[in-house]
Amino acid sequence: MNVLIVYAHPEPRSLNGSLKDFAVRRLEAAGHTVQVSDLYAMRWKATLDAADSLDGAAGPRFDPSLDSKRAFENGRQSEDIAREQDKLRWADAVILQFPLWWFSMPAILKGWVERVYAYGFAYGVGEHSDTHWGNRYGEGTLAGKRAMLMVTTGAWDSHFGPRGINGPLDDVLFPIQHGVLFYPGFDVLPPFVIHRSSRVDAAGFDAASAALGERLDTLFETQPIPFRRQNGGDYEIPALTLREEIAPGRSGFGVHLA
Ligand SMILES: Cc1cc2nc3c(=O)[nH]c(=O)nc-3n(C[C@H](O)[C@H](O)[C@H](O)COP(=O)(O)O)c2cc1C
Repeated sequence: MNVLIVYAHPEPRSLNGSLKDFAVRRLEAAGHTVQVSDLYAMRWKATLDAADSLDGAAGPRFDPSLDSKRAFENGRQSEDIAREQDKLRWADAVILQFPLWWFSMPAILKGWVERVYAYGFAYGVGEHSDTHWGNRYGEGTLAGKRAMLMVTTGAWDSHFGPRGINGPLDDVLFPIQHGVLFYPGFDVLPPFVIHRSSRVDAAGFDAASAALGERLDTLFETQPIPFRRQNGGDYEIPALTLREEIAPGRSGFGVHLA
């Protein structure tokens, strides 16, 4: 199978760098073909702007969505964007790997998402009707592919626990797992997370890589997170709220799990 690792860390000799090298070796040893988008090494341009279209802005005012759509449809996207979209089409599984920085992904990876997820590629896909509100949340260009986060955090496991001060990890990662990955169609696997990264010594690294190895060995068998599909009947369309009889009286991120 084809695996794309989108990797965001500036230092190859970091914990993340070592985990990335381990992952590539493990996946290749299992017979997979691996590509790594090493965003810092590629000097990835993180900011979305008019230069993302070879033609610049179409009108007097740059429109981030509509200019993205036009460039995508006309084959006029900046080459770095088109190349990453080709890698996504090629991949059977995509791993986003990053240290948690300010409760989210590093800016360079957020910029990869913003620029590579063009209008017509990752959003604005499919018809809108009374029963179908675009191909998204379980449908879309990336449907049939798997995705997984590989994340390190400075904080402890308990800090991200059900009553931990950082908020539950599933909630912290919801915008990425549900918003960035499930939205364009990926089946999202439970994340692989290493907490308390500064305490990872040689023995800790051995344990972490053993756990990671298991996750990589089962990448194509692991059950995805059971996010509800937008057009699967659980949501009112076009309000896109859960039907009253589903998870009655409950709200919050957890209600979007079947
Ligand atoms: C800018 C910055 C922001 C950070 N924000 C968080 C955070 O929100 N939550 C957390 O648990 N750790 C946070 N950390 C700690 C990193 O997650 C930690 O240093 C990293 O996972 C260690 O991996 P590395 O050795 O590969 O860099 C932050 C670190 C930096 C530099």
